[in-house]
Amino acid sequence: MIGIDLHFAALKLEAGKLVAVPTETVYGLAGNALNTKAIEEIFNVKNRPHFDPLILHIGNLNQIEQFTSVIPDTFYKLAEAFSPGPITYVLKKNQQISDLVTAGKETVAIRIPAHPMLQDLLSMVDFPLAAPSANPFGYVSPTTAQHVAAQLGDKISYIVDGGPCSIGIESTIIDLSKERPVLLRQGKVTKEEIQKIIPTVEVHQGASDTPDAPGMLKSHYAPDKPVYLGNIKKLMSKFANHRLGILSFQQEYDVDNSLQSIHYILSSTGDLNKAAHNLYQYLRELDHAPVDVILCEPVPEVGIGVAINDRLRKASYKRKPI
Ligand code: TXA
Ligand code: MG
Repeated sequence: MIGIDLHFAALKLEAGKLVAVPTETVYGLAGNALNTKAIEEIFNVKNRPHFDPLILHIGNLNQIEQFTSVIPDTFYKLAEAFSPGPITYVLKKNQQISDLVTAGKETVAIRIPAHPMLQDLLSMVDFPLAAPSANPFGYVSPTTAQHVAAQLGDKISYIVDGGPCSIGIESTIIDLSKERPVLLRQGKVTKEEIQKIIPTVEVHQGASDTPDAPGMLKSHYAPDKPVYLGNIKKLMSKFANHRLGILSFQQEYDVDNSLQSIHYILSSTGDLNKAAHNLYQYLRELDHAPVDVILCEPVPEVGIGVAINDRLRKASYKRKPI
């Protein structure tokens, strides 16, 4: 059921049920982070491997001490600049947080989301919400309540409809639990913005298929249809006999074959924030459209473009480069 009844959502969460919630990045599949059954249910509903830890969502900065054992100065500096907002901090955890949430790690990922409905909901319950993105594991993250309903609607109690997510891609994740801060996932908050506050920040290099580096999986955020990333003109000639789904950044491409093709432009004005906002919506639509392959191109590697290109690479990972 989709709706905007936050009291109902709070009651469900208190009863240990799962509720999908809007955030400014993507929709989350939320449960009481202190309730083991609710956490188990999140992994089941998402079909998520237990080695992949969850993000804890809290309402305000003061709550951070309840769930962490060491809080470095860098956390407060970054939080002052970017929280509430699209950034997640990995910190040393304390006993409050079960191994199930953190996949047995000594650290916990925590975010203070800015979406006003989620802020309200967090103020109505007296526990943090564990919430991964509300999609089946490995698939494209949902950016509307309808996306969640289409995939998980029959498995969860309630979906809070907060409208389309303004940013549209997942939060930036920074690991502050080690001596040197490491950027684990890029998002709306960019490396350059973080460097202004922490000049020594490093970007996590490489991806892996192992549990040692959760969130760094090579293939992720992927539609069911094959996705190819590269020069769209070259890809078009390679797939001339196919029904083409084309996802370009700014430009329109003429398709000169007799087969059907469907074309989405991420932002005709070249606005990278708009492109991020549209990315998952368009990938989903192409996945459900009568096309055989999805062809896409990198966007300019600046600002949030870095995060968009990361998601496109992961969506296309299984396909050989052409
Ligand atoms: O924008 C977002 O972050 C959204 C919204 C709902 O908040 N959430 C989200 O959650 O994208 P999820 O679970 O789809 O992605 C969280 C990533 C996972 O790749 C996980 O491996 C990583 O965060 N992660 C969680 N805890 C971690 C930890 N202690 N150390 C390293 N990575 C961690
Ligand atoms: Mg996810």
